[in-house]
Amino acid sequence: MQIITTAREMQQACRRVKANRRLGFVPTMGALHEGHLSLVRRALAECDVVAASIFVNPTQFAPGEDYEIYPRCFEDDCTKLEATGTALLFAPSAAEMYPEGATTFVEVTGLGDRLDGASRPGHFRGVATVVAKLLNIVGSDSAYFGQKDAAQVAVLRAMIRDLNIPVELVACPIVRERDGLAMSSRNRNLSESDRGRALILHRALDAASRLVGDGEMNAEVLRSAMIEVFASDANVRVDYAAIVDPATLLPVDDTSRGALIAVAAWVGSTRLIDNVLIENLRADNLVREPFFMEEVHA
Ligand code: PAF
Repeated sequence: MQIITTAREMQQACRRVKANRRLGFVPTMGALHEGHLSLVRRALAECDVVAASIFVNPTQFAPGEDYEIYPRCFEDDCTKLEATGTALLFAPSAAEMYPEGATTFVEVTGLGDRLDGASRPGHFRGVATVVAKLLNIVGSDSAYFGQKDAAQVAVLRAMIRDLNIPVELVACPIVRERDGLAMSSRNRNLSESDRGRALILHRALDAASRLVGDGEMNAEVLRSAMIEVFASDANVRVDYAAIVDPATLLPVDDTSRGALIAVAAWVGSTRLIDNVLIENLRADNLVREPFFMEEVHA
């Protein structure tokens, strides 16, 4: 695996690959887990060559958030990426990505202020800016993102469409621990007791999903069921429990046309997110079996 730290060299290396091969790209902030590696595997299955990036992007963290304590383990990450078949790794410094005088930002208005964007002002401006820059540097045919960050997927799909960026965004299924906890780099920051508590996000989604499976479509009923689960642990603070349109992130009243059920909660000092995507419960007014987006267990 070739490790490249400057945008110029990365651009040149990717251009050489793209001359005659399909290039897939997996952007990450490191602290890699099976979720990230599933993106690399999917990219490898669909492309000839896979590039990844590791960059803990300062502009997507607000002051007081966990930028400083975000887990960093570069050597270990490199071993995992190489073993999974990554050919090119872009690992720039913050100064390389944001040189003095850089004043251009990408803002996806509306969408960028919903769900995580509402509780983390400026977060999606930072994400959209760095991903636009990375896509310009790598110029891959496709780029792979985890469905766990469902709001991020919606924001980036809109950005790619609005800015005519010639890349296919591929959203990949959530990968879970055996007990159901969605894999996240931030899980490393959980204490042992908070690790147990963190399952509450999955339990809340499970409660809603079970109701959907029983035919319940009223969003408020599903939301109440999730809030009830969260209320069972006073040490967990809900940020949001939302039933929204997966593309616009706007609330929906019922789930008959499909919906994203998404939760965010503070478990101790760690903020975690999780979601389940329900697709087309009802087509042509025929009620069908609910289809939940596939999930993968490690
Ligand atoms: O999902 C992430 O890890 C980050 O938000 C991303 C897409 C790499 C941008 O910094």
